[in-house]
Amino acid sequence: MPPSTRPVNAPVAIALKTAARQGERCRILIGQGLLNRAADALLRPGQRVLVVTDHGVPASMHALLVDGLLRLDAHVASITIKPTERAKSLRTLELILDAACEHRLERGDLIIALGGGIITDVAGFAAATYRRGVRVVQCPSTLLAMVDASVGGKTGVNLTTSGGALLKNMAGAFHQPARVVIDTALLESLSDRQLRSGLAECLKHALISGGLGDKLLWTWTQASLHALLAHDPRALAALIARNVRVKARVVAGDERELAPPRKGGRMLLNLGHTFAHAIETVPGLSWPGPPAPGLASPVRAPAPKLVRGPLTHGEAVGLGLLAAARLSRAMRLCEPALPDQVRDALTRAGLPTALHGLPDASEILDRMRHDKKAAAGKLRLILPVRACRAVVREDVPENLVLAAIDAWRA
Ligand code: GLY
Repeated sequence: MPPSTRPVNAPVAIALKTAARQGERCRILIGQGLLNRAADALLRPGQRVLVVTDHGVPASMHALLVDGLLRLDAHVASITIKPTERAKSLRTLELILDAACEHRLERGDLIIALGGGIITDVAGFAAATYRRGVRVVQCPSTLLAMVDASVGGKTGVNLTTSGGALLKNMAGAFHQPARVVIDTALLESLSDRQLRSGLAECLKHALISGGLGDKLLWTWTQASLHALLAHDPRALAALIARNVRVKARVVAGDERELAPPRKGGRMLLNLGHTFAHAIETVPGLSWPGPPAPGLASPVRAPAPKLVRGPLTHGEAVGLGLLAAARLSRAMRLCEPALPDQVRDALTRAGLPTALHGLPDASEILDRMRHDKKAAAGKLRLILPVRACRAVVREDVPENLVLAAIDAWRA
């Protein structure tokens, strides 16, 4: 049955075969009301669980998870983290490891991450390192974490330079979750801004999905934006399942991101991210926000309100997709219409496409050179090409990168 015709409460199960867990498949479950059963069949009575969550998760959803664990006779403790990029730090990792010690977690026990991408990453890293590795169950609470961060086993924290600059995901480990539980009921409490940010990662998947078994994802996502932004549960469930399948397929083919650049592999998931990482912590940015909901006539609509930074990760990824498409057109790698299509999709998704307060383009380029995807200080960029495919390029002329950055200027 195609995902869009499936009843919203029937869980979809996707198996991700990973070498890291001795060929064991990581099951990714998608459906309504799954939190209460998140750890079923993973625990024996009396085992211990540390739940790592964030302030954005409704107390009722945390309670549902904990009730389900108590039903399994588990001993449960919880720690709540502030979900900010600054808090995705070694200090927070230490707090989680201390909590695990305090709760006397043993090797066979469980950490459960219930939250957005920051929680999935830092709690996953804690699970990778505590006693040299305990199992983690990922329960993502935002669209972005559901379609990306919770799937594939990347975990980590940011580091900070002596000057105070954040270096994104600079320390981490691959640690495949024992299970991913995507309870779509969590989307009901998601803010519009978080929903839009998650859509940016979905647009990224759609732009590379041509060789990954879902050639129609780009056109389907564009056609479904209205329903998705209206929080239509069927459209959202279909979106998540299709995106998780694309991501799972990439990860299964190159779990540790070791494929050579000419093959692409997992590196392709970095489309837009070298640009995004370079701008998401730039201070003083602002941009025109999405139009107010419910405006009947865009002709008479007032000018959108200015939103002040920082950008969310998804907003920065959207801008990164646009810059990558412009760069690709400048190098004649994609259909000439692609940048306009990307800009239209971002605009309709209520994501920024232009920025006020952008520093000199050379400053952004310098930050891009420090991205961990760069090789020997050489830029390595993922560019969208024809038929919803992408390539890794290490030969992009600097003047074209600078022009793509400058094209963001509002
Ligand atoms: N988020 C990119 C990856 O998982 O590889």
